Amino acid sequence: MNTDNRYLWNHKDLLDVSQLSKEDVHHLLNLAQSFQEINNRPVKKVPTLKGKTIILFFVENSTRTKTSFDVAGKRLSADTFSLGKSGSSINKGESLKDTALTLQAMNPDIIVIRHSSSGAAQYLADLLPCSIVNGGDGWHAHPTQALLDSYALRQVWGTDFSGKTLLILGDIEHSRVARSNIYLLHLLGARVRLCAPRTLLPRHVTQWGCEVFSDLDEAVRGVDAVMCLRLQLERQEAGLLPMLTEYSRRYCLTPERLAKAAPDACVLHPGPMNRGWEISDEIADDPRCLVLNQVSAGVAVRMAILYLLGTRND
Ligand code: CP
Repeated sequence: MNTDNRYLWNHKDLLDVSQLSKEDVHHLLNLAQSFQEINNRPVKKVPTLKGKTIILFFVENSTRTKTSFDVAGKRLSADTFSLGKSGSSINKGESLKDTALTLQAMNPDIIVIRHSSSGAAQYLADLLPCSIVNGGDGWHAHPTQALLDSYALRQVWGTDFSGKTLLILGDIEHSRVARSNIYLLHLLGARVRLCAPRTLLPRHVTQWGCEVFSDLDEAVRGVDAVMCLRLQLERQEAGLLPMLTEYSRRYCLTPERLAKAAPDACVLHPGPMNRGWEISDEIADDPRCLVLNQVSAGVAVRMAILYLLGTRND
């Protein structure tokens, strides 16, 4: 594996990218590159985490994050188990604390949690001795998404992000993906622009160190990448967007708008996509759109995280 023997991973949990140093991030992404090589083999399994137990505790819906953690754990030979809201005693009113203590009593090594409340992952990390990975908590953070996005960008940009500009477009107010990505992209040296209608921008956005736009044609000019965000209608109050057709007219990424970016600009989307709202069909299916590369990157990056957490006391 392509790793530095002098490097020491010093974290019990992965709660957000803000806990990571630049060295942590580069080590983790280099490690993910090694795991990607395993993922491309005919037999995609190594014995690294044999005997370890990973619980996927997903109280909110997920396709990509949950499946890729499951695949990642199994490719490392760990035993993975899933618990969701549906079909569990959470639906009978069992509290987060009692559910977490119940899972801990089964002596897992790692719990990956997704929850609609910001701070749920931190709560589990303070309560339980096993490692906790934040698979997305409320509007707060989605560290593994930001890491896999940077991994996908490294495939295009190389490891040095300085001089690169990425535009985050869409529902920034409700986006844990935007919050984690802004921190990580700044740490890796990229500039970040934000573009959204005023009602979908957080109140303190001017303190985030980004250039902020409400006009997409202006925001996209010359950028090296655009990250479209899903319009999170399930988290929005009534009245934030009176007309979806008007939103799509002003903020949907189309080939005409992408033509104003740098000639080799790429497009990211964390998924799931609302085609025709924040991203046009043509862009979603264009080779410049990295959405499926991001999914593949997700498996490799999550293998790296599980490896670092699962072997930290070995
Ligand atoms: N990007 C992301 O978190 O997707 P899922 O909700 O499908 O996990």
